Amino acid sequence: MERKEVLVSQAELDRQRDYEEKIRRMFESRQAHPTACVDTFGCQQNVADGQKLMGMLLQCGFTLTDEPKEADLVILNTCAIREHAEQRVFGNLGILTHSKKENPEQVIALCGCMAQEERVSKRIKESYRHVDLVFGPHALWRFPELLWQVYETRKRVFAVDDEHGSIAEGIPVVREKGVKAWVSIMYGCNNFCSYCIVPYVRGRERSRDPQCVLEEVRDLVEHGYKDITLLGQNVNSYGNDLDLNYDFADLLSDIDKIPGEYRIRFMSSHPKDATRKLFDTMARCTHVAKQLHLPVQSGNDRVLHEMNRRYTRAQYLELVRYAKSVMPELVLTSDIIIGFPGETEAEAMDTVSLVEEVGFDALFTFLYSPRPGTKAAEMPDPATKAEKQKWFDKLLEVQNAASARLHAAYVGKTERVLVDGESDDPAFPLTARTDGNRLVRLKGDPSLMGQFTDVKITGSNTWALYGEAL
Ligand code: 5AD
Ligand code: SF4
Repeated sequence: MERKEVLVSQAELDRQRDYEEKIRRMFESRQAHPTACVDTFGCQQNVADGQKLMGMLLQCGFTLTDEPKEADLVILNTCAIREHAEQRVFGNLGILTHSKKENPEQVIALCGCMAQEERVSKRIKESYRHVDLVFGPHALWRFPELLWQVYETRKRVFAVDDEHGSIAEGIPVVREKGVKAWVSIMYGCNNFCSYCIVPYVRGRERSRDPQCVLEEVRDLVEHGYKDITLLGQNVNSYGNDLDLNYDFADLLSDIDKIPGEYRIRFMSSHPKDATRKLFDTMARCTHVAKQLHLPVQSGNDRVLHEMNRRYTRAQYLELVRYAKSVMPELVLTSDIIIGFPGETEAEAMDTVSLVEEVGFDALFTFLYSPRPGTKAAEMPDPATKAEKQKWFDKLLEVQNAASARLHAAYVGKTERVLVDGESDDPAFPLTARTDGNRLVRLKGDPSLMGQFTDVKITGSNTWALYGEAL
């Protein structure tokens, strides 16, 4: 698709800002002080979308609240990646029928990845009649206009058309308080892994212009953000659609030139597109955290093929070997799916042996969940839930032991951390993150909050390190 068709025009963006103004004036004329609650599920990309929704809501004159029951507007910003995430959302929608009975003026909206699924929007249309507004990720930038339609017509509004997808710059954002920020550098996915719903709900890959990304990161650093994560379904294909001969490693190099005290991280990376150039760039750039989330999904070649991952176990191991050779301190994490349709015990154990061989710092482990509309959902799946659970437990056992071992090796070392939170443990009142994003529970003065500091690591367990500020 042509670039000019992908970018939302300035006139369209201005129109949305006008709708925000209209909504604000409508509330002012009623002398109303409306509240809104945004409940976000799922991945960081969705968290970033939720921050844009909150930004637009503030412009519309809403005050934000965490209490859905009392809010004048409730938005469920949903995830579709596994069945469990969907069930939770339908549960929450059920609960909201009560608050709507008490306050018939309440507006209920459903957005995010689930909303983009035809199966879901149909079910909402037919069986969840208290939901006023349904819009998918493609329509996020048009939220002010859609909300205005709801208030003006008091009819249900659905904006869930299947699209290639667009890029809208300059949407207002409400960032988390503190030092962490998320920056989407691209949207969508072209990979069609056979188990995954994302390409169906978030459209094709679209990269933001490098200058827009650089400007946003520069602005964040100037405003004191120190832990900045670049987001994309597969950041390694950044730039493929730009025709600029400029890739993700080039973007990292340019970001690294921005002066200041901050770290850059990114996720996720598809192994098929991870290059030596990327790892060399990470190794060289001082602001880039030596941390890599490289989802492997399986350690068995037949299963990898069926998953349409387009790499082999050997290729993955070679990538990891190279990355560790140029970054000996690298903190490596991954995603694993156990129980893909047709997977046998021996194949699942290949995944366990890969995990043992690599020595990941941490893993995000999932039992396969069939997603209607994907290829894998049509495949025969003879293994029982109990069998899959047994393989899953074995994987966890191996990984927990590895995490504990790796964590124990930190004890006695000095690490540079960014203090980013408080804990309820009086013995270790602060929390912090190492360069590699390991959690450190910390003894130290609260004035360290938001600062980089050196800590001596004094203890560890499977989940965290313990330390004292020096
Ligand atoms: N079932 C289980 N896990 C899944 N993931 C994606 N789709 C599914 C599914 N259908 C996992 C993958 C991915 C992570 C974000 O979620 O491991 O990397
Ligand atoms: Fe994120 Fe994927 Fe869930 Fe959408 S479906 S919120 S992209 S994890």
